[in-house]
Amino acid sequence: MAEVKERISSEDAIALENKYGAHNYAPIKVVISQAKGVYVWDPEGKRYYDFLSAYSAVNQGHCHPRIIQALKEQADKVTLTSRAFYNHRLGEYEKYITEYFGYDRVLPMNTGVEGGETAVKLARRWGYDVKRIKPYEAKILFVEGNFWGRTLAAISSSSDPSSYTGFGPFMPGFERIPYNDLQALEAKLSTDPNIAAFMFEPIQGEAGVVVPDEGYIKKVRELCSKYNVLMIADEVQTGLCRTGKMLACDWENVKPDILILGKALSGGVMPVSAVLASDEIMLTIKPGEHGSTFGGNPLACAVAMEALQVLKDERLDENAQAMGEFLRKGLRDIQSPLIQTVRGKGLLNAIVIDESFGITANQLCYGFKDRGLLAKPTHGNIIRFAPPLVINEEQMEECISIIRETIIKHTP
Ligand SMILES: Cc1ncc(COP(=O)(O)O)c(C=O)c1O
Repeated sequence: MAEVKERISSEDAIALENKYGAHNYAPIKVVISQAKGVYVWDPEGKRYYDFLSAYSAVNQGHCHPRIIQALKEQADKVTLTSRAFYNHRLGEYEKYITEYFGYDRVLPMNTGVEGGETAVKLARRWGYDVKRIKPYEAKILFVEGNFWGRTLAAISSSSDPSSYTGFGPFMPGFERIPYNDLQALEAKLSTDPNIAAFMFEPIQGEAGVVVPDEGYIKKVRELCSKYNVLMIADEVQTGLCRTGKMLACDWENVKPDILILGKALSGGVMPVSAVLASDEIMLTIKPGEHGSTFGGNPLACAVAMEALQVLKDERLDENAQAMGEFLRKGLRDIQSPLIQTVRGKGLLNAIVIDESFGITANQLCYGFKDRGLLAKPTHGNIIRFAPPLVINEEQMEECISIIRETIIKHTP
């Protein structure tokens, strides 16, 4: 793709954000003004490999031509109707996505965190109407290190002080147990009849790509069924081929009661999220009790159908699995005490940096950037590597070289 120089410089774009924007992010100092596939460009025309994929929202690669085409075609017809009226794409999309994932019904929302909110509301309502929990006593069980967004409900479940400090009072009825701890889960579920649901990520993304023991997801399923508690899988980051299967739960052949999807559901084109569940759960919410002006808009429906079809047509699950193995082997072969751990599944990976040598993960990310690869630390010393799933072997080899050279250069 030919580079196109922008009129605004990187320096000016950063200065404008600093002066006029809220300071709620601390981005790597790079400005992206163009993107295609696995690459992004800055206004000066420098090319980078994108090793973050907008937090796994561009699994299909930046500006996938089929998804952009679907967006343009629909944008010329109608973009938004609200749910006050029916629209010509929503029913078609609902049929498509429920058949795709094997659920009775879908509730369309926009962002991932709205998907989480929707799942929690559904679980509470199911808890009252079906499980017969006493009014206002329903609890949702979460895990330490969870991340599902920034709303008040999401931060009320968080164990991360930078998420919740200074934002209380918090949502009642939320409890937490350690992640990857089946004993703690059974201890809670077996003693507290007010628990309506257990909500977790099959691999924790923002916590630093924390992969639970093999068998964990399956056992969570068994325990939830045994104690009549809904299993809610937050696959906003792990879903849609990211970990080498369509869903991370597929690694253990498990079907959650409530499945939350977002991010790559639109291939990174616009905010689209979805909550999938059975009739029994979904029909507890009645007209007027939940919704969103933009949720289920025809533009989102058209984009999401194409984005899902691309995942299948291009077998991005298989590529993520193969390229993930290739990447982890390449990373493990790097001889440096700076790398403490390499972990991940498919193309959701992380390295843990031993910062005791005086080199920080952030410094390494700037080293990668200088050599043409963009990544960002999560939780201080952990660097996530999650490129678009369309990456090929040759490109991955180049990326491993960039990472190797940078780390070796910084190794004392
Ligand atoms: C697992 C998980 N759930 C939910 C969210 C929230 O998604 P959004 O930022 O679209 O609200 C995220 C975002 O990173 C996530 O990783």
